Amino acid sequence: MLGVVVIFQLCLIAGSLASTGLRFSKDPTAFAVFKGWNAKTNGTLTFHFRTDNENGFLVYEDDKGQCEYIYLSLTDGRLRLRLKMGQCDETQTLLVGQKLADGKWHKVTVQRKYAWTSVTVDSLTNSTFYKGRGRQILGVESDLFVGGIPWYTRFNDLSFPSIYWESMTSKRYYGCISGIIHSNGIRPLREAHLRNTSGTSDGCLDPCSQTDKCENGGICRDTVSDVWCDCKGTRFQGTNCTREAASVWLNGSGYIVFHVNKEEENFFSNRSYVAFHMKTHNSDGIIFSLQSQYYNEYNDYLLIEMKDGKIRVELDLGEGPLVLAGKGVHVNDGVWHWVEFSRSRRDVELKIDHRVKAAGEMPGPSYQLNVKEEPKVYLAGAQGTFSENPSRNRTLADIYKSFTLGT
Ligand SMILES: *[C@@H]1O[C@H](CO)[C@@H](O)[C@H](O)[C@H]1NC(C)=O
Ligand SMILES: *[C@@H]1O[C@H](CO)[C@@H](O)[C@H](O)[C@H]1NC(C)=O
Ligand SMILES: *[C@@H]1O[C@H](CO)[C@@H](O)[C@H](O)[C@H]1NC(C)=O
Ligand SMILES: *[C@@H]1O[C@H](CO)[C@@H](O)[C@H](O)[C@H]1NC(C)=O
Ligand SMILES: *[C@@H]1O[C@H](CO)[C@@H](O)[C@H](O)[C@H]1NC(C)=O
Ligand SMILES: *[C@@H]1O[C@H](CO)[C@@H](O)[C@H](O)[C@H]1NC(C)=O
Ligand SMILES: *[C@@H]1O[C@H](CO)[C@@H](O)[C@H](O)[C@H]1NC(C)=O
Repeated sequence: MLGVVVIFQLCLIAGSLASTGLRFSKDPTAFAVFKGWNAKTNGTLTFHFRTDNENGFLVYEDDKGQCEYIYLSLTDGRLRLRLKMGQCDETQTLLVGQKLADGKWHKVTVQRKYAWTSVTVDSLTNSTFYKGRGRQILGVESDLFVGGIPWYTRFNDLSFPSIYWESMTSKRYYGCISGIIHSNGIRPLREAHLRNTSGTSDGCLDPCSQTDKCENGGICRDTVSDVWCDCKGTRFQGTNCTREAASVWLNGSGYIVFHVNKEEENFFSNRSYVAFHMKTHNSDGIIFSLQSQYYNEYNDYLLIEMKDGKIRVELDLGEGPLVLAGKGVHVNDGVWHWVEFSRSRRDVELKIDHRVKAAGEMPGPSYQLNVKEEPKVYLAGAQGTFSENPSRNRTLADIYKSFTLGT
């Protein structure tokens, strides 16, 4: 007796995919400008580099010509931090690692917590404390300069002016820098936004073209910092997409509730992505729902269900529901199907087995899914708003029953 088998990849898309990295060639004026890292009180910055050169400018940002700055460079094959913060009455320096110009990838993590700042290269860490006067903050206002200072930067805007010459002469960086992500300590780490670049090229080496280690249709992704198999949509997981993903077998006697955590909840608001594999012989029932635990003023929700053997999505952002129907495609044929629902603000799309089956735009001006009070994700069932809504006052038992049928 088979109810429904579901594999969920509930992913809360926050940003774009990791970048493939920038190659700094021989152009002495090469640079890349990213949106600044706000490390005022605390936060984390991570990136990867690979070079054969023992000296080179890596990363710099400052308070636009006053006195505070943070600067990371390679010096005789070691990673060096120079930091001026607070009232700038001292320059903190750190050296970490050695023989880093070995043509291999190295991962750098900088962490700030008030007076304390640490730098980690691969597995080695060194840290420093600010002992000077003033508040224990690093006031940063500029963009994050990577691999060099843009030639058009005004000299007076640099808090550490000699950086300008260093970056163009002795400390010119040659090599690759990738995977720059940062966080200000409140939000999760996110890929830094590239604002401008010149003299660089995309991607460093493409290890994906040299090895095909991803099985079962997994896609090799080279984020330079890392080469990995993207098993999304394959029903397999693990390093090489060889391990069959754990599935949930719902025989009709229960449902699964996920508590959406506070950080993810925000990501759901502008964008949503829900994807799962399913296999069933049943024709009706709720597969997925996202809703507040309580009936609230917004009453926004996302519901994915099966109706007459076809996928049906219902979404309400507070301006009335929009229904997307996977017309024609019967998914209750006892074979695996890959269902993806995605939304970016008001644009929504339903894909079944990698094909777009329905798309649309939400009515009204609202573009956020507000499920603020204890949002929950229900798998193979629903509670609260759906059972209170008379148009869908099927009891939970009814819903489960519809999943217990089958062969
Ligand atoms: C940490 O940095 C300081 C200051 O640059 C340096 O003197 C010291 O050797 C470094 N420690 C390690 C373990 O690398
Ligand atoms: C980190 O800094 C933010 C403000 O930028 C603050 O709200 C948060 O409480 C800080 N976190 C810690 C652990 O100090
Ligand atoms: C981007 O860089 C180019 C030089 O490569 C420069 O001319 C342009 O002004 C820069 N754009 C911005 C928005 O700073
Ligand atoms: C993945 O493939 C690589 C290259 O073929 C191999 O070296 C590695 O052992 C495989 N890993 C797993 C977990 O199968
Ligand atoms: C489903 O599984 C539960 C737990 O194993 C069991 O108690 C229940 O009787 C099963 N229900 C059906 C309809 O098979
Ligand atoms: C959602 O979009 C609004 C408007 O552009 C923006 O202010 C807000 O930060 C976004 N929320 C998230 C969590 O990205
Ligand atoms: C809701 O359920 C009640 C009790 O089962 C039933 O009497 C009523 O007709 C249902 N309402 C609708 C709109 O289906």
